[in-house]
Parts: sequence; structure tokens; C-alpha cells
Amino acid sequence: MQKLTIEVTVNGTTYRREVEPRRLLSDFLRHDLGLTGTHVGCEHGVCGACTILFDGEPARSCLMLAVQADGHTITTVEALAPDEKHLHPLQQAFREAHALQCGYCTPGFLMSLLPFVETHANPTDEEIREALAGNLCRCTGYQHIVEAVKLACRLMHAPQEA
Ligand code: FES
Ligand code: FES
Repeated sequence: MQKLTIEVTVNGTTYRREVEPRRLLSDFLRHDLGLTGTHVGCEHGVCGACTILFDGEPARSCLMLAVQADGHTITTVEALAPDEKHLHPLQQAFREAHALQCGYCTPGFLMSLLPFVETHANPTDEEIREALAGNLCRCTGYQHIVEAVKLACRLMHAPQEA
């Protein structure tokens, strides 16, 4: 099959690659770029494990083709932590609140919730549950994830000391 050339910026790096027209964006990220932090569960848009930020908005990479990302900007879970020794506040909150067990769903939750925690200082449980409604977790029962989101919002919106 004839390949198409795409140029896509992922986590601040611009990649130019040849891809088959039917290559899924999730497979492109994982197999072509080696960014295996993006997980694949259902592969038909139900579980949310494959969520990335597409031009800053959460999107399911299993429902998109790599060619659709041509000229766009993607952020994956690999870009969250500022360096190897420090976690992003949202990751830190997930760890402290025990919001993961097997962890398979976690990258998708983090990327779905990132814009939410950036824009909400003190959300209600209902707002949090609505924000994570598109992501499935078979381990945690969700309550610890709700607690983690509250903690992340507190961490990210805490008044800065002078
Ligand atoms: S793998 Fe994409 S939504 Fe489940
Ligand atoms: S922690 Fe196992 S699926 Fe969510």
C-alpha cells in the first residue's frame, strides 16, 4: 500500500514519517515512535486507555488515523513528568491517593484529566466523576481516583508562597 508522509509534533519534537493510510494513531505513537506509555485496551473508543492530548484536547488515539495528525500537536503521558526524578502533580496525586492498582488505565486517566485539573481549583465530586466518565478502570472502583483528582487540584492551585 502506498505510504503517505506526515509531520507531527509529539511532546515538543517534530517527527516526519511515512505511514500507511490506515495506520492508527495509537499504533503510530507506540510502534513507530516507541511511546508505549499510551496504552491500548478496547481499540474501539470505549475504555479511554489510549487517550492523548490532540492540540491540547483529550482524544482517543485508537479512533484516529496517523494521517489525521499531520500538522498537529500531540502530548502523550511521557511528557507529564518534568524529569526522571519528579512527577507531575497529577501523577503525584494518583500515587499518594492510591488511585491505581494494575495501572493499565492510568495513562488514559491522566491525559483525560490533565486539562480538567489545570482549570479547576476546587471541583465537586460530581464534576470530577463527569470528567472521568469516559475512562474505564476495572481495579479501583473509582473513589480513589476521585480523591486523587481533588488532591491534584489542591496541589496545582495552592497559593504560591512569597
Ligand atoms: S483503546 Fe482507545 S478507547 Fe479503548
Ligand atoms: S488500575 Fe487496573 S484498570 Fe485501572
